Amino acid sequence: MDWNPAYAIGPEAIDADHQRLFQLFNQFTAAIAAGETRESANRFLRELADYSEYHFRREEGLMRATGYPDAARHASMHAGFASFVRKQSTTGDHDLEEVQFLQNYVEMWLCGHILVMDKWFGEWLDGRAGKNAAAEPIS
Ligand SMILES: [Fe+2]
Ligand SMILES: [Fe+2]
Repeated sequence: MDWNPAYAIGPEAIDADHQRLFQLFNQFTAAIAAGETRESANRFLRELADYSEYHFRREEGLMRATGYPDAARHASMHAGFASFVRKQSTTGDHDLEEVQFLQNYVEMWLCGHILVMDKWFGEWLDGRAGKNAAAEPIS
């Protein structure tokens, strides 16, 4: 998963978290390619569960602080992904087929979520900033 500006949604801390998630994924992919399937899958799933929960808390905090109207639906998508990854990280060893499925699932979920759901939030933040600026009295 290569980071590129199309994934940027705006707030620096959020974009940095997303880059860290990509980095975790790429380290995992490299470990799989090096044949370290079982141990690296378990380690990756634990790290991914921890870091994505940390990131979701930050993103949802920003949504609450700014009054984002789609926050509840967005948070329920986070919760679904986080609980799936957490569960996978505690179900013991995964064989190669399961690891490949998890790899694809995580890649698709992260890319899709950032490019659609997180982007909407970023665009809403931009619009809100524009609206606030426009609403300011002209002096
Ligand atoms: Fe999100
Ligand atoms: Fe996000």
